[in-house]
Amino acid sequence: MSAPLPPSWRWREDEVRALGERVAAIVAAHLAGLPSDPVFRPVPPAAASAFATAPLPLDGAPAGDVLARFVADVLPYPFGNGHPRFHAWVNSPPHALGVFAEALAAAMNPSVAGGNHAAVHVERQVVRWFADLAGFPSGSPGGTGLLVSGGSMATLTAFTVARHRATRAAGIDVRADGLQGLGRRCTLYVGAEGHGSAHKAAELLGIGSSNVRVIPSDAAHRMRPGLLRSALDRDVADGCVPLAVMATAGTVNTGAIDPLDEIADVCAAHGVWLHVDGSYGGPAVLLLDRYRRTRAALARADSIAMDPHKWLYAPVDAGLVLLRDATAARDAFSLVPAYLRTDGDPSGVGGPVWFSEFGFDQTRPFRALKVWMLLQHLGVTGYRDLIAHDIAVADRLAAGIEAAADLRLLARGLSVVCFRAAPPGCPADALDELNRRVLTDVQLGGRAFLAGTTVDGVFALRACVVNPGSGGADADAVVAEVLAALSRQR
Ligand SMILES: Cc1ncc(COP(=O)(O)O)c(C=O)c1O
Repeated sequence: MSAPLPPSWRWREDEVRALGERVAAIVAAHLAGLPSDPVFRPVPPAAASAFATAPLPLDGAPAGDVLARFVADVLPYPFGNGHPRFHAWVNSPPHALGVFAEALAAAMNPSVAGGNHAAVHVERQVVRWFADLAGFPSGSPGGTGLLVSGGSMATLTAFTVARHRATRAAGIDVRADGLQGLGRRCTLYVGAEGHGSAHKAAELLGIGSSNVRVIPSDAAHRMRPGLLRSALDRDVADGCVPLAVMATAGTVNTGAIDPLDEIADVCAAHGVWLHVDGSYGGPAVLLLDRYRRTRAALARADSIAMDPHKWLYAPVDAGLVLLRDATAARDAFSLVPAYLRTDGDPSGVGGPVWFSEFGFDQTRPFRALKVWMLLQHLGVTGYRDLIAHDIAVADRLAAGIEAAADLRLLARGLSVVCFRAAPPGCPADALDELNRRVLTDVQLGGRAFLAGTTVDGVFALRACVVNPGSGGADADAVVAEVLAALSRQR
């Protein structure tokens, strides 16, 4: 029996094209208009309440009407990343090609769990390119890697494999018995400036946040390898099972890069997994000559997290985890019994060993397309220039801060600049509160956007430049905005 297509599913090619052209026009106008719009404006209370109370539509509306509603109610209130004076957190603007790559990936809409379809091969290629850059083994039976939702998931994935390896060496099968059978305390080691996702991962993996050893930093906010060694010595003597050390190549707070070589020595001496969180700083370390020593040390890691959706300008989401030992990763995640596993089916339906055997997700999006397209479009040299540009803008911002008598530079690493207002004569114990007011003033002013943080125990303003559309004039304008806010708030 031939059933007619439901009316709401009847799309003619010209209708699809017209819809796409309209979307493309909206995208183009949005991206072009960003610099002249406020960096940030909060969603007005009436609009927020409309979102909170509008009922689920019973009857559908034409796609054009829905687009018009998006333009009126959603598009005017972005978070601000994309604007050349948005420097909060690590949120880059999307490259325009990445925006349209998302639509192309959705048009194909595969699940990249596995199979012999192009999306799988694209993701394998992307992983191989990064593995080559990082000096990691790629391809069977060496290393492996996969795209995930972000740095947090990359670290969770790496820790899962590390936990499996270490507990197996300690005599249990953590997949069958959880940590219950171990009867010993499992520990993780993270720098004081390490990202909170490591602690969340410890909680999710049943390790417990109280078993995360927080290793203090030196004056440059880098993990102290000597203290890491002592913590490991102590725990091993106490019968603990150290699972992994997480070092950071580009901390979110100050852009500090931990001394990876010395940390790798400590890990090697203890036979402990080294995970490097390069979610933010990884691309700079992999691409810029000035970080080649760090890069060489990075190649000693067991796993690396790196986020194309941060400093590679891919639209959210796109995280990457690289793993040195594909077999260990597969053992930790695969639900295919070892005796039934095959090494893939290169010419048939099954294709290479499925990604779903190396991570948590089964249905997986075609994240790789935007990364693959951007890597081809920009190339290594293009990316190198863009990242170097961002660092130069951060340098200019830092210089402006140092030149201002009322501002004090607190930390400077990669493209992060931490500083605060410290006008002469202002009592030291009033500075935190003053800087909080300055930050809110700047954020709501709509002409610049910074984040707040704590550096060496004091409240600070933090800028992270990950937008090649920002220039020296923007850096100068940010300094001027902060000084103007200071004069209003004093
Ligand atoms: C250094 C670092 N690690 C991990 C993360 C977490 O990454 P994601 O937000 O992509 O999960 C971030 C996020 O800013 C980060 O800067």
